[in-house]
Amino acid sequence: RARQAASLVEIMQRAAQFYRQQLKQTPHAIDYLKKRGLTGEIAARFGLGYAPAGWQNLAAVFDQYADPALAEAGLVIVNDAGQRYDRFRDRIMFPIVGQRGDVIGYGGRVLDAAEPKYLNSPETPLFQKGNELYGLFQARRAIRDAGRVIVVEGYMDVVALAQHGVEYAVATLGTATTAAHVQKLLRHTDELVFCFDGDAAGRHAAWRALENSLAILSDGSRVGFLFLAPEHDPDSYIRAFGKGAFEALLGGEVVPLSAYLFKELAAQHDLASSEGRSAFLQAAHPLLSQIRAPALALLLRKRCAELANLQLSELDSLWQIKS
Ligand code: CTP
Ligand code: MN
Ligand code: MN
Ligand code: MN
Ligand code: MN
Repeated sequence: RARQAASLVEIMQRAAQFYRQQLKQTPHAIDYLKKRGLTGEIAARFGLGYAPAGWQNLAAVFDQYADPALAEAGLVIVNDAGQRYDRFRDRIMFPIVGQRGDVIGYGGRVLDAAEPKYLNSPETPLFQKGNELYGLFQARRAIRDAGRVIVVEGYMDVVALAQHGVEYAVATLGTATTAAHVQKLLRHTDELVFCFDGDAAGRHAAWRALENSLAILSDGSRVGFLFLAPEHDPDSYIRAFGKGAFEALLGGEVVPLSAYLFKELAAQHDLASSEGRSAFLQAAHPLLSQIRAPALALLLRKRCAELANLQLSELDSLWQIKS
């Protein structure tokens, strides 16, 4: 098993080299990155590449295109008829780097309006999406220095933030933020800020991140949310307004997880009626009961009791919490 994993690492490494070299030789791909405000230096830092158009370019890169390891690495697709072809074609390639510094997967973006906009590596022995964060390897030091990490949705958000000097951002990989993501990040810092797209999908992703963070919170950690205007994502925001404006938002507009939680629950229930307050408690209970941080759990129950117009002791007996 260890030997097989080693050869997958080599394959990914080799492909990354090929894609990087292709980018250097492909003016329209370079132009695309320039148009998005990126310099060659930042492209090099993230190892960005280009997968050329055509179906079997990797056949020239590897001695044996039929090697099952290429398919296992997610670079080659074998169809039902047994034909093999490159998964990534005519796309900007964002290598996803694992914690040892090896390329473990890719995200590939089209250069035009084709669909799907992003194509990601499948789950492989090297790459489990729910555990990995794009940019974490590159950001580790900056996260330590800043004392916090920003979690964004997209590859371009991470790269654009770094281009503007905000080097402590990472992205989930087209999946919801998982408890494993949060746990991993809290090993690097005690402050985590989710800054997703301002659109409906981003707001939904924020609530999912809240739900999946609750069980991981400790009394020393701070998790917050930065909500952008509906038309923005972190990439478009920092390009429009710059690093200073983005860091000003971080300084003043981050909504603590607790405030976001109660704001949402209060918006969904009529706290002026007993029926509304009972429904509010019904919704709050499964969320609050996940919190294992003792002080935070107590403080949130207290706030919950206040909003429901109960004493804490009444809420605790309702929820059968022993004091
Ligand atoms: N994503 C994906 N598959 C898609 C669309 C999106 O995996 N078809 C993931 C990618 O990781 C992407 C992230 O979700 O980076 C956020 O999606 P979106 O906001 O649409 O992409 P942006 O990164 O903003 O893309 P861009 O700015 O390049 O248009
Ligand atoms: Mn700190
Ligand atoms: Mn989006
Ligand atoms: Mn986006
Ligand atoms: Mn974007």
